[in-house]
Amino acid sequence: MLRFFTRSVLSLIVASASTCPARSSSASRPAFIAAFALSPPSAPSTSCQATMTASVAAESTDLPRWDLSRFGFSSPFSDEIDLHLEETAKLAEAFKAKYEGKLGELSLLSAIQDYEEISKRKTLVSSYLHLSYDVSLDDDTLKKRKGALSQRQSEIYGDNLEWFSLDVAELDDAVLASQYENDPSLTKFKSFIDELRRQKPHNLSKDVERALTVRSPYVGNRPLVSFFDKELSLMRFKLDEDGKEVNMEVLLSRMQSSNDAAFRAKCLQVLNEGLAGSVSRTAALSLSSVAGGWLVENKERKYINLRSRRNLDNNCPDEVVDSLLVGVRSAGIPLCKRFYTLKKGILQKTQGLDKFRWSDRNAPIDIGGVSNEKISWEAAVAMVKKGYNQFSPKMSEMFVSMVEEKRIDVPAANGKKGGAYCAGVIPGVGPFQLLNFDGTKQDVATLAHESGHGVHDILAYEQGYLQYHPPLTLAETASIFGEMIVFRDLLAQSSSKEEELTLLMSKIDDVVNSVVRQCSFDRFEELVHTAREKGELSADELDEYWMSALREYYGKEGDAGGDSPFDSYENTSHLWSYVPHFHHVPFYVYSYAFADLVVGTLYNNFLTNKEGFEGRLLALLSAGGTKDFANALGPFGLDPTSSTFWTEALTAHLGELVNEAEKIAKELGYVE
Ligand SMILES: *[C@@H]1O[C@H](CO)[C@@H](O)[C@H](O)[C@H]1NC(C)=O
Ligand SMILES: *[C@@H]1O[C@H](CO)[C@@H](O)[C@H](O)[C@H]1NC(C)=O
Repeated sequence: MLRFFTRSVLSLIVASASTCPARSSSASRPAFIAAFALSPPSAPSTSCQATMTASVAAESTDLPRWDLSRFGFSSPFSDEIDLHLEETAKLAEAFKAKYEGKLGELSLLSAIQDYEEISKRKTLVSSYLHLSYDVSLDDDTLKKRKGALSQRQSEIYGDNLEWFSLDVAELDDAVLASQYENDPSLTKFKSFIDELRRQKPHNLSKDVERALTVRSPYVGNRPLVSFFDKELSLMRFKLDEDGKEVNMEVLLSRMQSSNDAAFRAKCLQVLNEGLAGSVSRTAALSLSSVAGGWLVENKERKYINLRSRRNLDNNCPDEVVDSLLVGVRSAGIPLCKRFYTLKKGILQKTQGLDKFRWSDRNAPIDIGGVSNEKISWEAAVAMVKKGYNQFSPKMSEMFVSMVEEKRIDVPAANGKKGGAYCAGVIPGVGPFQLLNFDGTKQDVATLAHESGHGVHDILAYEQGYLQYHPPLTLAETASIFGEMIVFRDLLAQSSSKEEELTLLMSKIDDVVNSVVRQCSFDRFEELVHTAREKGELSADELDEYWMSALREYYGKEGDAGGDSPFDSYENTSHLWSYVPHFHHVPFYVYSYAFADLVVGTLYNNFLTNKEGFEGRLLALLSAGGTKDFANALGPFGLDPTSSTFWTEALTAHLGELVNEAEKIAKELGYVE
């Protein structure tokens, strides 16, 4: 199965939904993680891929491309691939014939080892096709080829492999205990076994699960959601008088990077108007269907709370997630308002703003002092290498090997997927990184981020294919950590207070978008799913829920006598309709807040307790999926289950950054 850590969707979301473009500003946000641990191979691909191509094509470039020869196939069209897959199908068939109904008698260890081998063979093909396609999005023949192979993989999984997960979950406790006794090395797979058994109370009968799996590419939510994705990717907006149209990524990027408040307001208006009508009706239909499906399946599968199913996938107790959400409300919202008040003050002084509008939220702070010179690829590599070296020489070396082994596809080339991601593939073959490097500071941060995923994968491969994927709650540890170190390094090298403030403000934009913004998204989803119980949802109703979540988190408009730093929320009502996560992975968004805060806390832990930190961090990363987050954080003296964990994390992470920015802004005379 393929798991991508991708930022491409972020171009639309975290950021952008919120509003930043993939390449220029998704940098410090946690990447998107496909959270389908054991689903059929076609699921992740539809769930976490952005549909946009890179908007800026570097014409002729000699930036490095990745070398996929490690997969052992000569081309995506090669017959070797079909042969490999058919052999895999035979192995899967033989596997089922040998073990089904006999897991109690035969060696469970051998069965799991066989299952792992077969799964790796499947992933090798799907990853190869994905990666190949992501740098040739305009190749329709390849797209068709990829689709056909992915349907074949769904069949193989549904027919001969899915039963295994269900049967392991069903095994009698006593039978399992004797397996452990007879075969002590079975404990190596304990976390894999535990993960399956956690699902047991929620799994349906084999026939029902199989029917759901094989039908899913054809009917139900998936085709609707794909249709919605397509509508979204086809959207074009007219910004200039010259009538030239731009896609959403470009629109967001221009809104985000403009120093002209009137232009930003116009971008937002064009966006909101563009989404009104058919796109938001399609989005409403799709979302209504997703929420409906979630609702009935929650009942059938006996999940008690709205988020329980997602939380179980993340191996995270409901109470911890609830406590995160409560913490962000109580401690995150006030910090967020302080930040926007500061930003408003600076923009009023520097851009002559009359009203602080929603479109000004991610506006750049342009107060001079920051060089806009492009950073070369070599210089970017040197910066990341140096940054990593500060907390882990070993990780720095791994990063350098990734570059040398041609595991990174660097340039923003024509026909290539936008954004950035790191794909773990399988031990011995991965990881591979896709970038759209254009020489900005954010691009350096993105490189630091994705390389963190790569290093994490390499360290965790020792757990084997079935167990190397970290739980979602820890998946961002190395990536955000690496990015944080590189950010601090850049900050330390600032040549002026102005540059420092600029860097800080943009960093806080990212943190607020990851933490507070994502929790407001989660609140919207909560309102939507709760309302779905009473019937289908219209686009108008969704507009209302969206606005009410916005006001809960950012306050009531200042202009209307409210308590928000924002004077107006004009032209924001349809923005819910361009957030794909709501459709692809319900209740996923809190993970961004979760990861950012955990890593912020770890970073502070690093500052106060450098002795032995590298060893502790490497141990955490090497554990891959074999430790849940509470156990993994124990050695650092951190306890995310404590009720004050989140509020303390907010104060130490976001709070510290806001303090620093306020202090410098005062010194420079931007605020009182
Ligand atoms: C077991 O149930 C979960 C949902 O609770 C589902 O996601 C998973 O696919 C099921 N397992 C199998 C093997 O079908
Ligand atoms: C918002 O949109 C309306 C038209 O729908 C327009 O009259 C108004 O000026 C817009 N507001 C901003 C801030 O652009």
